[in-house]
Amino acid sequence: MEKKEKLYEGKAKILYATGDPDMVIQYFKDDATAFNAKKKGTVEDKGIMNNAISSKIFEFLQANGVPTHLVKRLSDREMLVKKVEIVKVEVIIRNRAAGSLCRNYGVEEGRTLHHPILEFCYKEDKYNDPLMNDAHITALGIATEKELDKIKAITFKVNDLLKSFFLALNIELIDFKIEFGRYKGDIVLADEISPDTCRLWEVGTGVRLDKDRFRHDLGNIKEGYQEVLKRVTEK
Ligand SMILES: Nc1ncnc2c1ncn2[C@@H]1O[C@H](COP(=O)(O)OP(=O)(O)O)[C@@H](O)[C@H]1O
Ligand SMILES: [Mg+2]
Repeated sequence: MEKKEKLYEGKAKILYATGDPDMVIQYFKDDATAFNAKKKGTVEDKGIMNNAISSKIFEFLQANGVPTHLVKRLSDREMLVKKVEIVKVEVIIRNRAAGSLCRNYGVEEGRTLHHPILEFCYKEDKYNDPLMNDAHITALGIATEKELDKIKAITFKVNDLLKSFFLALNIELIDFKIEFGRYKGDIVLADEISPDTCRLWEVGTGVRLDKDRFRHDLGNIKEGYQEVLKRVTEK
């Protein structure tokens, strides 16, 4: 597939046009940001590892009936995906307390929850990705009620699938963020699923295998991604 002009450069990836107007190439960079880009850095080979991990996970989800944008992994850093119109909401599931849930609600990190929490945030860096509810989403026309129902159903299914996927690798899925897009009238899972977008704790030890190593300067950042990649590809 021919790589054409750059369409968008984000914090972690670049999108390129292709010869097919329905397809784009997602290029994974080594750039890392946290706290809405207030903290910036790079993690050597992160782009290569996230492309490989995300490809594996999307293949697994696709094989289990989740519609995704993945067409195929093209190279170390490139993935061919269906070009979608991104729904401007970040969809989060929390299985255990961490991150902003702890900061905003005074909950101790790692606390078990009575049930998973589904959260929506407006995907708009300039407003700091504020939390929003169903009414905001439908009233502001960000998605229709029907689309939102689909998004919720797919998200809970992704949580169930990924919890057992990671548990088989001795990893607990603490929380994750996903994005959806519209493609030919349908809602599909888009963007990436990687240690940048999930909190992954090793079962038993609680060792962090995700971007929190970068966020909180825990050291051995690259090694966390490498460990996830190793387990995901050996599966
Ligand atoms: N299949 C797709 N089609 C079009 N846009 C996509 C697709 N998958 C992801 N995107 C968008 O491309 C961008 C990926 O780059 P990223 O570095 O994550 O950007 P950002 O800084 O906006 O998070 C995101 O804005 C994401 O919403
Ligand atoms: Mg992003």
